[in-house]
Amino acid sequence: MLYIGVDLGTSAVKLLLMDSEGKIRNIVSREYPLYFPHPGWSEQKPEDWWEQTVAGIKELIKDADKSQVAGISFGGQMHGLVILDKDDNVIRPAILWNDGRTYEECDYLNNVIGKEKLSEYTANISFTGFTAPKVLWVKNKEPENFAKIEKIMLPKDYIAYKLTGVHCTDVSDASGMLLFDVKNRRWSKEMCEICGIKESQLAKCYESYEAVGTVLPEIAAELGIPANTVVAAGAGDNAAAAVGTGTVGDNMCNISLGTSGTIFISSKKFGVDKYNALHSFAHADGSYHLMGCMLSAASCNKWWMDEIIGTKDYAAEQKQIEKLGENHVYFLPYLMGERSPHNNPNARATFIGMTMDTTRADMTQAVLEGVAFALRDSLEVAKSLGIRLERTKICGGGAKSPLWKKMIANILNLKVDVIESEEGPAMGGAMLAAVACGEYKSVEEIAAKVVKIVDTVEPDPELVAKYEARYAQFKEIYPACKPVFDKIQ
Ligand code: XUL
Repeated sequence: MLYIGVDLGTSAVKLLLMDSEGKIRNIVSREYPLYFPHPGWSEQKPEDWWEQTVAGIKELIKDADKSQVAGISFGGQMHGLVILDKDDNVIRPAILWNDGRTYEECDYLNNVIGKEKLSEYTANISFTGFTAPKVLWVKNKEPENFAKIEKIMLPKDYIAYKLTGVHCTDVSDASGMLLFDVKNRRWSKEMCEICGIKESQLAKCYESYEAVGTVLPEIAAELGIPANTVVAAGAGDNAAAAVGTGTVGDNMCNISLGTSGTIFISSKKFGVDKYNALHSFAHADGSYHLMGCMLSAASCNKWWMDEIIGTKDYAAEQKQIEKLGENHVYFLPYLMGERSPHNNPNARATFIGMTMDTTRADMTQAVLEGVAFALRDSLEVAKSLGIRLERTKICGGGAKSPLWKKMIANILNLKVDVIESEEGPAMGGAMLAAVACGEYKSVEEIAAKVVKIVDTVEPDPELVAKYEARYAQFKEIYPACKPVFDKIQ
């Protein structure tokens, strides 16, 4: 049988076709626009996601035996607010995970309702990118749109809805809404009340590997796939990536270097860090995870390469970098503000430490290192909770760079296991579909069978020591700049 994994990302939708043995048969990618209507705002059109997903599926399976397609599932960009009216029309563009407009609503939630209550109800506090503050923003700033809301959904769930007609979501993605009681895997009545919404406006919540329905007959006919093709709930892109890299079960780690950067730690037990600096979410394997999320990771390098120095040849730029651990230039990677661990939408990107002899390569190196140092900030929070890690998996576009992997291994002092394919969320989506179709008994079973480690990047003690000293300096830059960031808004 064949399974389709849909990774509904921020820059593109990536689609992957996997067979029963876990072999990747095809991968395609289709881009759509991202809109920044005001500084710090970030929106996309759900209609664009749907159009490109349909076109992408057709392209993905054009040379395959379509009658063998048994299941479809997802890894989706998290936290985005999609709202539909009573006729199923999209009311306004989706407000994305990296949008910083809701600082007033976050202030209300964190300081008037209070972090303790939020953490008790949802296991998390409010961050500007989370969904509940966006619901409040629409209520406060666009009351005419708020009054029209019939259905509230997350990005990938809009695609599931278009495919099946079922208003559904899954536990991992629901966890990032701040409307979900993560510990008990159900909607929080208290949070619905605080946000002025009814539970009936929210989707039915499934485990990620459960079937939500089958593809509608007219859609199946358009795609040329069987009408009984199963659609599984899927997962938020980080949980799906964790499945795709075999980061399931207890105390496993995955780093994703995509538009965002995340460090994801799986856990059999539910747990919350007392400052809520890491997110505490449900995992797609039926258990839980902790996660630190930085808002700009591979996107910092893309911005530096494409917009500033004007090149598409990233590898050629990275070839010029020779002196690891000795750079005197630092980069704070906060191009969209920052989530973990600073929770500050006003944070901004900064280069610091240049001298007359600073080269373009030093600056490129600073960008790559800045992202790795910022991931280390979240790892330090995990360590303070007693979590001990020796190794991590890695995925996402940034994971294609051998140099960046080496920096990560040495700056975080972790062995970095490289998987056959860095397509984490799309692979995870296809794997969840295979479990929903009964091809495998559990997420852990399929992960053990199909995920293959092809290489390990080992930290080098000498370089680790050099980077330790650099990290100590990096850590001092954000607190020193913070008062200025607040002023220059
Ligand atoms: C996770 C997060 C991002 C998006 C990116 O909390 O906001 O990783 O899911 O798609």
